[in-house]
Amino acid sequence: MANHVTLTQFIIQQQREYPGVSGTFTSLLNNVVTACKQISHKVNRGNLIGVLGSAESENVQGEVQKKLDIITHDIMVDSLNWSGHLAGMVSEEVEEPVKIPRQYPMGKYLALFDPLDGSSNIDVNLTVGTIFSILRCREGVEPEVEDFLRKGTEQVCAGFVLYGPSTMMVLTTGHGVNGFTLDQDIGEFILTHPDMKIPEDTNEFAVNMSNQRFWEPPIKRYIDECIEGSEGPREKEFNMRWVASLVADVYRILTRGGIFLYPYDFRDLSKPCKLRLLYEASPMAFIVEQAGGACSTGHERMLDIKPESPHQRVPVILGSKNEVERIIQYHKEN
Ligand code: F6P
Repeated sequence: MANHVTLTQFIIQQQREYPGVSGTFTSLLNNVVTACKQISHKVNRGNLIGVLGSAESENVQGEVQKKLDIITHDIMVDSLNWSGHLAGMVSEEVEEPVKIPRQYPMGKYLALFDPLDGSSNIDVNLTVGTIFSILRCREGVEPEVEDFLRKGTEQVCAGFVLYGPSTMMVLTTGHGVNGFTLDQDIGEFILTHPDMKIPEDTNEFAVNMSNQRFWEPPIKRYIDECIEGSEGPREKEFNMRWVASLVADVYRILTRGGIFLYPYDFRDLSKPCKLRLLYEASPMAFIVEQAGGACSTGHERMLDIKPESPHQRVPVILGSKNEVERIIQYHKEN
């Protein structure tokens, strides 16, 4: 144990190297960590504590909520609202930004999160996760919706936690990407995956193939060429993986490369894209870029998008740099 670096130790050390990162931020991150440990515990106990199954309600996206969607939202809010570090929050589960109760001091950061990503996987005991993004806020003011609508380049920190065979946190504060594994015996996240890097090339793609006939030509072309393998223009074989949990698919790409696509599709024009910009695509884009990969809509760098609404959806293409650039090129040629 003597040589093990805990997440708190790691952040404090980073703070010394980069004076812009304050003690307040370390403390805020500790609150996020505490919330994620609680979520990990609930996910792990599953039906032993009756948390699986549908809540028989719908969220702001019109998606059926699981009991755990609501439980994890409450855990995040209750762990973060009292600390005096936050001025407001946006959660996937509620329409309006969450205000800080009047009895608590107002802080200088904003938190945006998807408390339980991949929740369709929860009842089949597959990996789910929590995704979060931290922004700075104008000090001393109650934030308006506009305060949350900031480009991904303005994120102070982004991370996600995987509740899988191990519980892991992947984090960036803009100085590379590091992975921490929760040691259940001592209740601490330990640095196990320092300086994660995504290989520039890959022969593995992740996409929900059942949407294929609704895609635009550049995406169809890219995937068709992958499937043609060594007999097509790519002259090599490709492999496919689709966990249907963004956290799990991105984690795999961080460890061995790959490309993930949830592109625009015209199956239902009221929902032409699935993933949400502020608390899914943008934090993942920050992490992926910091690990040497790329993230785009096909037309625009994800981190450069100026958001228009808190629950805005975007097409997402992320992962190994050379493949993302190839798809961007296919969009230009189209
Ligand atoms: O938030 C949405 C999400 O669950 C992601 O985690 C995942 O990548 C995607 O949806 C899966 O979508 P589908 O059910 O279409 O495969």
